[in-house]
Amino acid sequence: MSVPGLLEVRDLRVRFFSRYDEAVNGVSFSLPAGGLLGLVGESGSGKSVTALAVAGLLDRRRCCCEGQILLEGTDLLSLSPKALRAIRGDRIGVVFQEPMSAMDPLQKVGKQVEEVLRVHTSLSPAERREKALSALADVELQDPEKAYDSFPHQLSGGQLQRAMIAAAIIQRPRLLLLDEPTTALDVTVQAQIISLLQKLNREHEIAMLFISHNLQVVKKLCPRVAVMQTGEIVEQGETGAVFHAPQHPYTKRLVAAIPQRPDFA
Ligand SMILES: Nc1ncnc2c1ncn2[C@@H]1O[C@H](COP(=O)(O)OP(=O)(O)O)[C@@H](O)[C@H]1O
Ligand SMILES: [Mg+2]
Repeated sequence: MSVPGLLEVRDLRVRFFSRYDEAVNGVSFSLPAGGLLGLVGESGSGKSVTALAVAGLLDRRRCCCEGQILLEGTDLLSLSPKALRAIRGDRIGVVFQEPMSAMDPLQKVGKQVEEVLRVHTSLSPAERREKALSALADVELQDPEKAYDSFPHQLSGGQLQRAMIAAAIIQRPRLLLLDEPTTALDVTVQAQIISLLQKLNREHEIAMLFISHNLQVVKKLCPRVAVMQTGEIVEQGETGAVFHAPQHPYTKRLVAAIPQRPDFA
């Protein structure tokens, strides 16, 4: 067998007890250290459930997961919720679509960015603040001190998403899960966030699983892509090849549906 990746998902199956069919139905993919993998597919195809499974965020009282999710060789599905919490934030960072709803409106941004440090480290408040400011600078917020002391509603959508990314990378995880991180943003801000992710990937060697229903965005960021339909990966490979010579009928439809305009950014 080839050298295992940072993340190896093997035959992942997720079934919610409230539903007859499987939300994720035998998904396998691999992400090397420092790699970028796009996961695309229409709404309801199982992208978020896949990411939630990897993040250990599925409520196991409401669904069952089978298969393997190997992070550096450890099967996350075999770990207790407590052990999973220790990994999340520390070795896996997670960023979701809506920065506004992911943040607590009543708490200053800086405190939320350093939240994982409270959970995972014994750093002093001053040390936590210093690390948070450095993470806010890493995500290229113009004035990290100001962002730190702001409430969420005082920042724009793009600034907030940067702050969410800062919170997700503050512990320098090996893996970042990004579920539609640019979908709520306008096209210009989207492009800026994509450039930021490229920079973080290059400079900090953080591997990323980047979920989007927008093929254009995935094409810009990810050298490899997996295409999901109704809980299954129907096609995966090098992004250019998948775009130019899609094999599966569903991928052909997805590619054909891309508006004929120049790539953004
Ligand atoms: N908590 C849940 N309980 C029951 N079904 C769910 C739950 N979360 C997601 N699903 C179902 O699982 C399938 C995959 O959902 P999801 O991963 O959110 O799709 P995507 O992110 O690709 O739009 C959908 O049919 C969705 O309705
Ligand atoms: Mg989703």
